[in-house]
Amino acid sequence: MPLRPTSKKQFDLSAYLSTRSRAVDQAMNRFLPSASTRPATIHKAMRYSIFAGGKRMRPALCLAAAEACGGKIEPALPLACAVECIHTYSLIHDDLPAMDNDDFRRGKPTSHKVFGEGMAILAGDALLTQAFEIAALSKGWPRYNHQTITLEIAKAAGSLQLIAGQVADLEGEGKKVSAAQLKYIHERKTSALLCCSARLGGMSANCTAAQLKALTDFGYNVGLAFQVIDDILDITQTTEQLGKTAGKDTAAQKATYPSIVGLEKSRKIATDLTNRAFAALKIFKGKAVALEALAEYLLKRDK
Ligand code: IPE
Ligand code: IPE
Ligand code: MG
Ligand code: MG
Ligand code: MG
Repeated sequence: MPLRPTSKKQFDLSAYLSTRSRAVDQAMNRFLPSASTRPATIHKAMRYSIFAGGKRMRPALCLAAAEACGGKIEPALPLACAVECIHTYSLIHDDLPAMDNDDFRRGKPTSHKVFGEGMAILAGDALLTQAFEIAALSKGWPRYNHQTITLEIAKAAGSLQLIAGQVADLEGEGKKVSAAQLKYIHERKTSALLCCSARLGGMSANCTAAQLKALTDFGYNVGLAFQVIDDILDITQTTEQLGKTAGKDTAAQKATYPSIVGLEKSRKIATDLTNRAFAALKIFKGKAVALEALAEYLLKRDK
């Protein structure tokens, strides 16, 4: 079992997540053009996927990181929305017939099923661009100006990180992939954006270099654990439970932790990574309760 260091004390994560998700949804609603703004089809498609019912884990990590550094959630909200826009764009494109070819996402038909492939591609493009517009609307901070913030997001989403992971994921289909190569994929396609979410939260609280380093270690490990669990859930849960088609990784011959090291070892790896994430939070001296609770929840989640 994972060792959750400081927060033996009660922390109501479900109340935390519902207030934070509400704040994110309200901010997102303000940032996105209304569904009737011309051309209406694209704004409907953007809103369809953004408000389809995702878990909002990246925004939650961003806000919780800000709070761990003594910041408030308001200044972190644009950055939380920016990472959720990047994430949602990556899912819309990940689901396209040319990629994972999935029909369900967040409990609903995928964007291309509802709006057609062309519009789904454009909705992804628009959300990726929207993320930078929203980040530009943040106020900037003494230690972290707009250039730093923009670079942070661009690097995590770009061809050396998220895209690199997606490239290697596609190229790995049907092939024998080593454990080292699989780690490369997971670090990039998933961990990079989770890590970026935590770092941006810290930046929005004008965090110190030591705090940023701690958030980086935390986000990296939580991010890797997140994808190991995603791989596990694909084979242990139902489509109804996940809100996306279960069993797709095996069908598509994807490289996953369970396929390479088996389920039991995969669970152990996820637990070890989560313990490393907990260890990274030491410097917050008990003030990172929300981050701790999130890391534990992400390990134990069933969807
Ligand atoms: C799914 O992410 C894609 C991965 C990187 C594994 P989430 O499980 O966070 O998806 P939503 O946002 O809740 O739909
Ligand atoms: C998706 O990984 C990663 C990105 C979209 C960047 P997966 O392909 O495993 O995600 P799911 O299982 O479709 O949600
Ligand atoms: Mg994929
Ligand atoms: Mg997929
Ligand atoms: Mg998956």
